[in-house]
Amino acid sequence: MNLVVGATGLLGGEICARLANAGKPVRALVRSSSSPEKIEALRRQGIEIVEGDLRSPGSLDLACHGVATVFSTATAIQSQQEGNTLDRVDREGQANLIEAARKAGVRRFVFISFRGRPDIDYPLQAAKKATAERLKKSGIPYTIIEASFFMEIWLGPHLGFDAKNARAVIFGSGERKISWVSYRDVAALAIAAAESPAGENQVLEIGGPEALTPLEVVRIFEQRSGKKFELQHVAEEALESAKANAKTPVEETFAGLQLYYARGFEVDTRPTLARFPLRLTSVRDYADRVLAG
Ligand SMILES: NC(=O)c1ccc[n+]([C@@H]2O[C@H](COP(=O)([O-])OP(=O)(O)OC[C@H]3O[C@@H](n4cnc5c(N)ncnc54)[C@H](OP(=O)(O)O)[C@@H]3O)[C@@H](O)[C@H]2O)c1
Repeated sequence: MNLVVGATGLLGGEICARLANAGKPVRALVRSSSSPEKIEALRRQGIEIVEGDLRSPGSLDLACHGVATVFSTATAIQSQQEGNTLDRVDREGQANLIEAARKAGVRRFVFISFRGRPDIDYPLQAAKKATAERLKKSGIPYTIIEASFFMEIWLGPHLGFDAKNARAVIFGSGERKISWVSYRDVAALAIAAAESPAGENQVLEIGGPEALTPLEVVRIFEQRSGKKFELQHVAEEALESAKANAKTPVEETFAGLQLYYARGFEVDTRPTLARFPLRLTSVRDYADRVLAG
């Protein structure tokens, strides 16, 4: 049995769909407050639903019962709920899940993380590092996936990249390269690594096929859409100041992530691809998909 924690999220939903399509048994942990439409969509794929919460250890013991592989993609970063904090979910909640998985004799724990830049620190990154360290010491065979920026999130309308209306918010100068990766490729790697001995006790980095600056990305969208983009830059100094003056861990994390983008991040995915061959989605593929509607 595969347990997906974060199943109602973007990446967890993709992992569920891929496993279910391949005929593998899947159990999705959902919360009492999770979207009923998303739960129904999981059910329709033949996925077993178990209710629980990373903040509730007892629910995790039940969820892990009879499970061989845990995929944990959950995070509180988008949560607006009272008490569903980065500390309670991304740090303590993941620790609860590791403990439940250990007690249940889980044979592989796949944790989705990111490496971040050494020159920027913020609560989500600190919680991810703490979880990765805890997992490595747990005795459970693990796979830690360190993913770069998801193109569907960072080159999407929620973060101001509005291709349909030819407008984009750019964090910083837009001149530093980023290895944009598709969450679909991250899901494919997570499953391939979970199912292979070559993925055991490994930290695998994944970026896209080509690092591009945000301005190069804009040019790709301009060429393919035939429309000139209107750009709005958020200066690096403004992001530093937002981070320094943040009032909550989530605010500090958002500013930290935007600063991480502004300063750039390149990943060499070749060592990962040498072990897990995948055809990675390019920004051009993504632009065609978005512009086709
Ligand atoms: N976006 C990026 O560029 C990027 C890059 C590298 C790594 N990552 C990592 O990739 C992972 C997946 O991202 P995503 O975009 O799929 O996230 P997402 O869409 O925000 O999904 C978050 C999931 O966590 C669940 N969750 C929140 N609080 C919980 C709790 N207390 N107990 C159990 N589940 C809880 C949510 O459930 P509900 O539906 O009930 O709220 C949802 O299923 C994250 O860990 C993220 O840090 C993201």
